Amino acid sequence: MTDLLLLPGDGIGPEVIAEVKRVAARLWPELTTSEMPFGGASFDQLGTPLSDEALAAAKSARAVLMGAVGGPKWAGAPRDKRPEAGLLRLRAGMGVFANLRPALCFQPLAEASTLKRELVEGLDIVIVRELTGGVYFGQPRGIEDLPGGGRRGVDTQVYTTAEIERVARVAFELARGRRNKVTSAEKSNVMETGLLWRQVVTDLHKREFADVTLEHMLADTAAMQLVKAPKQFDVLLTDNLFGDILSDEAAQLTGGMGLLPSAALGAPGTPGLYEPIHGSAPDIAGKGIANPLAAILSFEMALRWSLGRADLADRLFQAVGRALDAGARTPDIGGRLTTAEMGDSVLAQI
Ligand code: IPM
Ligand code: MG
Repeated sequence: MTDLLLLPGDGIGPEVIAEVKRVAARLWPELTTSEMPFGGASFDQLGTPLSDEALAAAKSARAVLMGAVGGPKWAGAPRDKRPEAGLLRLRAGMGVFANLRPALCFQPLAEASTLKRELVEGLDIVIVRELTGGVYFGQPRGIEDLPGGGRRGVDTQVYTTAEIERVARVAFELARGRRNKVTSAEKSNVMETGLLWRQVVTDLHKREFADVTLEHMLADTAAMQLVKAPKQFDVLLTDNLFGDILSDEAAQLTGGMGLLPSAALGAPGTPGLYEPIHGSAPDIAGKGIANPLAAILSFEMALRWSLGRADLADRLFQAVGRALDAGARTPDIGGRLTTAEMGDSVLAQI
């Protein structure tokens, strides 16, 4: 059994995962890792974006770290063979229903945000995104031809009490170790799933988490408040689709997508899936200028949440902070370092 399964994937994925490997080798030489093709790379080699072997390896590792998937090369592939379909199958297959997406503003990067410094300086929020349900997986779905001409596309947003409760529980527990506040975002004003979401979160809060401050907010208002006064949030709990959107927005608050890691967790004792929230960035893939920090910080989260080494996670987190303090910057955050040089800067601080 390996400790950490690496799925570099496509685009800048392999470039940023290469830096994680160097960091891991320095920080924890005994850590065992293995690597499998995933996403478009797997489709090219094996005809499927996620092989049965890769899924089995993921389920038997202690943690899985993914780079990125997707790119224009596979845009024409049938939907179930697209790299993104492999990622959704991996998330569902591993049962990682709670996706933690921290948006943390490193002090020296407050200037890199497109928002005013005072709004983002010291920002530290976590989005808890439901990851294995909702419109990403709901049935029926598809595009059908209409008899009179034209076509009809259908997606289904569906949530059960159990699905909402288990992810809400993660958010409340997380908040207890932080500033003790959960903001739950949905569209209960127009959606049935939104109404159920609000009711289930309210009930669970009353039953088990009355000590935590709970606030409900419509998802569109949450999008607005995130750019207006982001520091009002501590833990932002939301569904799969809203979480996808709000986490990109939150990433930009902190200086960009190149910095934000994520952890997807399932039932206790099962492996977590760690991914930088940036995509495969085909426009800069192969140029050696991608920012490896989101991937390195995803490894940091794996150390903390799955590999039982919070001590090493702390060391790595501090090393990243010191590298940024010392001025290490890739182009996305206003500098000129290559991916490998950014890796060097972190290694030098470990
Ligand atoms: C993300 C990505 C994925 C998602 C894509 C690549 C399927 O945008 O992790 O945020 O929509 O979940
Ligand atoms: Mg996304």
